[in-house]
Amino acid sequence: MEQYAIKGGNPLVGEVEIGGAKNAALAILAAAIMTDETVLIENVPDVRDTNVLIQAMESIGVIVNRIDRHTVKINASHIHDLTIEDDYIKKIRASYYLLGALLGKYKKAEVSLPGGCNIGLRPIDQHIKGFRALGANVRIEHGLIITETEELKGNHIYLDVVSVGATINVMMAAAMAAGKTTIENAAKEPHVVDLANFLNSMGADIKGAGTDVIRIKGVSRLHGSEYTIIPDQIEAGTFMFAAAVTKGDVMVKNVIPKHLESISAKLLEIGCEVEESDDAVRVVASKPLGHTHVKTLPYPGFPTDMQPQIVVALGLSQGTSIVTESIFENRFKYVDELTRMGANIKVEGNTAIIDGVTRYTGAGITAPDLRAGAALVIAGLSAEGITVVDDIKFIERGYEDFHLKLQSLGAQIEKVDTERELQKFKLKVG
Ligand code: UD1
Repeated sequence: MEQYAIKGGNPLVGEVEIGGAKNAALAILAAAIMTDETVLIENVPDVRDTNVLIQAMESIGVIVNRIDRHTVKINASHIHDLTIEDDYIKKIRASYYLLGALLGKYKKAEVSLPGGCNIGLRPIDQHIKGFRALGANVRIEHGLIITETEELKGNHIYLDVVSVGATINVMMAAAMAAGKTTIENAAKEPHVVDLANFLNSMGADIKGAGTDVIRIKGVSRLHGSEYTIIPDQIEAGTFMFAAAVTKGDVMVKNVIPKHLESISAKLLEIGCEVEESDDAVRVVASKPLGHTHVKTLPYPGFPTDMQPQIVVALGLSQGTSIVTESIFENRFKYVDELTRMGANIKVEGNTAIIDGVTRYTGAGITAPDLRAGAALVIAGLSAEGITVVDDIKFIERGYEDFHLKLQSLGAQIEKVDTERELQKFKLKVG
């Protein structure tokens, strides 16, 4: 089983290039099947989640050609099946974006019902509410969500919770519904805006993405397009916090600083320097870290996907910090692993009370999910001694070449597959 072996203690210094946004890519790849013409998508991150979604698309007859590592050409004129199998949904929840895409284009789709996951219950009632409001019949049978209709009709839809997934799924279906749809209380995340821009580049008529109210005038067909995915806000934020935690100096390149505002604000609050330029952010951590309070919120609030990374930083800060998780109910599982590295954190419900310690110590730990896994790697980079991270398949779901990018910043980290390779790493780093 592959692991990351880390010898902590080196400040991260240098420049790192951020890839395309995984969560935008998942929505845009799915939406690309909504036309019979060819679509070219650039800046697709080469990570497990996007690759599994591409396989799910190929399983129903979509032709996907990789032009290079980050560019794909998609042609969906020969789709022969409207059912997405369980295997794909088990590997990657966001395969359910094919529900909105297929329903919009073919007025019928069957996708296996996603189960819970490591960060808690993940209901899809708002997706279903949206599809029904557009006139689709939706039923759940034999573990499948089956949705079909003769015709989709635009409607006024109020989402009871701010949901990225529901906003995206409903936006795709409504793009090809007859008439006007309004989505109220829509999610405003950068990848919601990126999907709207992509759909508009295919001939859709979507206005207001990035605000609470999205207005869509349905069109009967979409055409081919060439599109470049936005940079990954969370990958960027992860490297920004890696700089903070290792007392480093990192220039995070190819980003949209506006998307990183809540992350930059918290880094400034805990005493880091943050310099923004047009498409880069530099984080310098020359002083001891200070404490702060954080509550995760929908965009433009502090992202839940950055919660484990900021907890790792606050665990090393002076004083007591309180972090409240308001999006997912079970997102502090990794705290047990961090405690094994010496952190002093008490979790009560959806709140973590963090008393900063002066250092972490290396340990054998397990990545419980994607973002917590990345956060534990950062903890290992700052820790005294050696940390071995298991289950790195979770981290590889969303970070391309994570260990190589960290190495280029001076981190001592290697991917190892056997006990022998681990021993070799230990001998090498001393
Ligand atoms: C997306 C992101 C994920 C991020 C999350 C919150 C993708 C592929 N994933 O997940 O990385 O952590 O946004 O920013 O983009 N909810 C309901 N009913 C629904 C749908 C959601 O109650 O029908 C609740 C969820 O349980 C959660 C909250 O709404 O408490 C937000 O979830 P949502 O925004 O839908 O998250 P995802 O789209 O699954």
